Formats: sequence, C-alpha cells, structure tokens
Amino acid sequence: MIEQVPVSPLDPRIGRPLEDLDTPTLLLDRAASDRNLAQMAAFFRDRSAKLRPHFKNHKCVTLAQRQLALGAVGMTCAKLSEAEILVEHGIDNVLIANQVVGAIKCERLARLALRAKVSVAVDHIEQVLAISRAATTVGSTVFLLIEVDIGMGRCGVSPGQPAVELARRIVDLPGVHFAGLQAYEGHLVNVLDRAERTTRARAAMQQAVETRRFLEVARLPVGCVSGCSSATYDSTGAMDGVDEVQAGTYATMDRQYQRLAPEFEVALSLLVRVISRPTSTRAVLDVGVKGAGAEFGVPSIRDFPEAQIPVFMAEEHTVVQPSPDWRIGQVLHLIPSHACTTCNLHRELIVHENGQVVDVWPIEASGQLT
Ligand SMILES: Cc1ncc(COP(=O)(O)O)c(C=O)c1O
Repeated sequence: MIEQVPVSPLDPRIGRPLEDLDTPTLLLDRAASDRNLAQMAAFFRDRSAKLRPHFKNHKCVTLAQRQLALGAVGMTCAKLSEAEILVEHGIDNVLIANQVVGAIKCERLARLALRAKVSVAVDHIEQVLAISRAATTVGSTVFLLIEVDIGMGRCGVSPGQPAVELARRIVDLPGVHFAGLQAYEGHLVNVLDRAERTTRARAAMQQAVETRRFLEVARLPVGCVSGCSSATYDSTGAMDGVDEVQAGTYATMDRQYQRLAPEFEVALSLLVRVISRPTSTRAVLDVGVKGAGAEFGVPSIRDFPEAQIPVFMAEEHTVVQPSPDWRIGQVLHLIPSHACTTCNLHRELIVHENGQVVDVWPIEASGQLT
C-alpha cells in the first residue's frame, strides 16, 4: 500500500477539473502510476534480484519515495546532480550508473559520499585514481561498479579480463571500494519482438555474469551486478548472477514503451490546447519539442485513435493534419514518445484522479545536467 503524500492545501489547482488548467502542462495519473509501481515491486518481492529504479525517468523525489516505500533498495541515476538532489531529500543509497569525471565532480562525489552510500560506474584507471584522491582528501568511501560494455557500445570495459585488471587496481586504493559490475543492455531494449528481445538481452547480460565469475575466481568478490530496464526486467532481471534492476520508465510509461512493456499503463500525459485551425483539416497544438521529448518520434493523441498522429513538431507547435473537427481552445492529452526527456523539460507533475487535480509534485531534478 502506498502512503498518499498529503495534498498541499495551498495550491489553487487542487480540486479543479483538468480542463481548467493552463497548458501545456505535464500530468500524472496517480492510480495508473501506483499500479505500475506496485506491479514492478511485486515482481521483485520474492526474487534474489532487487529493484533500484532509475530516477532519470521522472526526476521527481515524491515518485522516488513511493518506489522506495514499495521495497526498492535504492535509486539509480544518470547524473551526479540527480544523486545530490536525492541525498538532499533523505534518500541514502544511490547509484550513479554513469561515469563521473573531472576535478570538480570528483570532489562533489567524494563529499556526497560523506552523507550517503554512493556508488558510481567506472571504466578507466584515471577516473578511479581521481575519485580515490578526492575521497581520501575528504575522508569518504565511494563504491565503484566497473562498467562492462555488453554490446551497447557506449561506456564500459570489455567483458572478462579487462574488468579483472581494473578491479585489481581498485582494491589496492584508498577511498574507494570495489562493489561489483554495471552492465546495461541498452542496445536491445527496443527490440519489439519480446521473445527475440529476451534471447538477445540474456545473451548480452551473460557476458556480465561470466565476468563476475572471472572476478570471483580471481578472488575479487563481486557484491553486485546491476543493469536491465523496464523492457528486460523479467528476462535479464531474472538471471542468476544479476542482483539489481535499474528499470525506470515503467513508473510513468510513454508511447515508445507502450509497445515494449504493455503490462504497464501510460500514466504520463501532456495536457495541451488547440491554438490554431489554419485550414479545415489542419490543427496546431500549443506544445513543441521544448515541452515534449521527441527523440522517439511525435506523441500520440489520447482518445483520438482516428486522428492522424502529428505530422511535425516545431519548438512550440505540434501540427496535426488531417485533424478531427477540433475547436480552438479544445483540450487534448498527448502521450509523449519519450517520458524521460519530457519530464526533464517540466518543473512539476500535476497529479490527477478521476479528471480532477489531487496533488502537485515538483520535478526536483528537471534540467539537471551536471
Ligand atoms: C544505465 C541505464 N540503466 C537502465 C536504464 C533503463 O531505463 P528504462 O527502464 O527507462 O528503459 C537506462 C536507460 O536509459 C540506462 O541508461
């Protein structure tokens, strides 16, 4: 059971019907999101792997607290600034599943580790040495997960021996603790066919599991192998040797993920208005790519399956053609193609149930890039 965050009596929007809101505004269907959180939490309740949700999805501390209340072991994030915000709000176990590089960041990281258990991905000895120096200076310990590239071609050492060599260097250094492996099968998350996704993602993750075995044979204990996503939680997340699942988008969902993991509900939408009808077949909406992440394409329009999906988005406009017979000022719900970049553009989530605003949750980490 998720404890409801008390409604702020101060916000005049609470209690109003959604149609009364100014637009564009980002909405969260609380009941749908709660069902998503509960369903994912239930999947991991009796498994050896645990859930460490990815904060990059919603960047909202209230949602993170709700995920933790349902049993998540900590939060994953992509940026040091996101980790700082989580710790600032009392969340004391965070993994930055990304490289933290540069003197300024290493010092911030080391200081953050005085206040919480902070783990970070590493893939090069230079980065490790800088973190070790910074942590030694301030007197903290930073937990390091060696990132292994299991096929995505982003960060990470190659599986096997390179990870063993880096781990050997880490265990001799002060201020850092070798905690395990970071391995994300991101190149396979969007494979539409679920059986094919499962087979290929498991084969990719097997490289991390084998690397774990190499390390253990070399007497380098692996506390944790962390990876996976909302599209692979039930495949790679159920493998022996995988300890933590960094699923993110299941909390809000979006148009792209709707096709990948339909067992979760789309809780996020953008309330928009029709601002122009230049012709009888063209409608223009009051949001563009400055308000809706569009890397995975244009949004869809809820409740209008017959409407053509928008033909294009500009900075502040979305053009639908041909369009249904919408009137000027008509309110619509868009389902963003990508929740994570959409949340990053907004300062708050208007939380609703049964067509009414029930709460307003800040998106504390929106726009955080460092
Ligand atoms: C390091 C890492 N872990 C996990 C995920 C999975 O997140 P999601 O469940 O939103 O696909 C991502 C997505 O970008 C990621 O970069």
